Order: sequence, then C-alpha cells, then structure tokens
Amino acid sequence: MTDVIRYPAEMSRIAGELRLRGNTIGFVPTMGALHEGHVSLIRRSVAENDVTVVSVFVNPTQFGPGEDYERYPRTLDDDVEICVQEGVDFVFAPQPDDMYPRSMTTWVEVGGDLVNRMCGLSRPGHFRGVATVCAKLFNIVRPHTAYFGQKDYQQYLVVRRLVEDLNFPMEIALVPVVREKDGLARSSRNRYLRPGERESALSLYRALTKARDAVLAGETDASALLALMASEIESAGAELDYAVVADPVTLEDKERVDGPVLLAVAAWVGDVRLIDNFLVDPPQ
Ligand code: PAJ
Repeated sequence: MTDVIRYPAEMSRIAGELRLRGNTIGFVPTMGALHEGHVSLIRRSVAENDVTVVSVFVNPTQFGPGEDYERYPRTLDDDVEICVQEGVDFVFAPQPDDMYPRSMTTWVEVGGDLVNRMCGLSRPGHFRGVATVCAKLFNIVRPHTAYFGQKDYQQYLVVRRLVEDLNFPMEIALVPVVREKDGLARSSRNRYLRPGERESALSLYRALTKARDAVLAGETDASALLALMASEIESAGAELDYAVVADPVTLEDKERVDGPVLLAVAAWVGDVRLIDNFLVDPPQ
C-alpha cells in the first residue's frame, strides 16, 4: 500500500512512529516526472530498507530567475502509479507554501570550493536551494539512508558535505547513472527535446565516452581531454556550458590524470540544459 502524504507535520509524525517501531527508513528525494533513473534509486531503497519514502516536490528555491520552474513537468498521478508498482510505502508530496511558509528566514548554504564550480557557477544559488530543501526533507522524513543519483554528481557531494557538517544521523548512497539505449542519460528534462535536438543531446554522452576511452588508452593531459569533449559537443550544434576533468572528491580541476577522475559536461541543446558525467579509473 502506498500512502500519499501532503503535509510536513503528518509526514513527520509518521516518520517518528516508524522509527519507534524500529523500522529502517530509506528516502528518495525527487522533483517528480519519475523515470527509470528515479526508479533505480527507488529499487535500491526498497531492497535495503523496511520502509521507503519518495518525495515529489518541485523545489522553487533551487531554480534561478529565468530557469524552468514554471514549466518543469508535474505528473503526480503517474509518479504515484510508479511508486505503487515499485512497492514504495509513502509518497511525500507537499505544497510550496507548506515547505516555505512566509515566516521562514533560515537557509542552509554549503560553502567552499565544492559549490564554486561546475553547476554552482552556471546556476548561482542553486545549491543553496538544494541544501535547504534537503535539510528540511531529512528532518521531516528522518531517513536512515537517502539515495542520490550519480547523474547529479556535484549535488551528491554537496549533500554529503551538508550531512557531515550538520551531523545529520544518516547515510547518503550513490546510485549509477541510468541511460537510454543509445546512451543519453535519463532526465526529466529530456521530454523538452524536439525530435531534431535529440541527436545533439547525445553528444554529451559521446564526448564523455571519447574522453574516457582516451584516458583508458593512456591520455593523461587534461587539456587534451577537455578539447576532445568540447569539440564533440560543439560540432553537434550544442552550446557547451562546461567540461571538466576533476578530482572526484574535491572537484578541483586536474591538469594530469594520475588517479580516478570525474569527467563531467553541461551543455545547452536549444533551450534545454543537460548534464552528464563519468567516473573513470585510469590504468595503473
Ligand atoms: P531530480 O532531478 O528529480 O532527481 C532526483 C534524484 O534522481 C537525484 O538524486 C538524481 O541524481 C537522480 N537521477 C536523475 N536522473 C538519473 C539518472 N539518469 N540516473 C540515476 N539517477 C538519476 O535532484 C533533484 O531532483 C533535486 O535536486 C532534489 C535532490 C530532489 C532536491 O530538490
């Protein structure tokens, strides 16, 4: 049975009762428009916990002015149906006014270099919105483990830092990127792509694949890898936002590949911004 919970206070009461009864709570925070990527997080949670809570909340504070908050897909009925099929116990789907009452004046900001790079540069304030909503959701749902996708790898690192810095008594689990057959990373934003744009969108995956193959073949010069990724994306008619070869823990740029690296890209395809990444272990 899947219950849909609308109010933070009710979700909070239920989480308290679940904990009193000794249940482990797995939590999958989402903005809805659920697809196979979300489903892989949900399956991990259902497999590893007594109870799974999925939140569906298009969080207004992580969208910048002019971003796609208004047009972000909202498909709650379909999302609940997927959660029923996957054996989710609770869908927490609050309203913006209940998550952000007018009286609220507290924000959670993860500082340092983790947020001053990549999506943190292109989307000022984005990670403050993510950190604030995650802190609120964690306090309401009180999970033992929360599941995050590698698709948003920087978000995963930011949330891990938040949990460590503010002593949230919980674990953060990382789940690999789920892709379409042709390699395109699943994303709620893929549905905005017009038929002709899909081919350009694939260039992110192709760029990462080429860079990974180069690393595996012994390329260690980051600037060569960056040039490879940029040219793959730009020649497909997409507009590169960033490409990085970075340390997978600190996100600092690497000049040479001398251990595990994060290859990550963001690009605009028409008016859709897409991101993707690979974690690569070079040959010893
Ligand atoms: P959303 O974009 O809905 O993503 C919810 C979770 O699903 C994130 O952890 C994301 O990394 C994961 N995910 C999305 N596409 C994936 C894919 N193709 N493979 C694997 N995992 C994938 O991320 C957010 O929502 C929000 O920022 C949120 C954390 C809910 C805070 O508002």
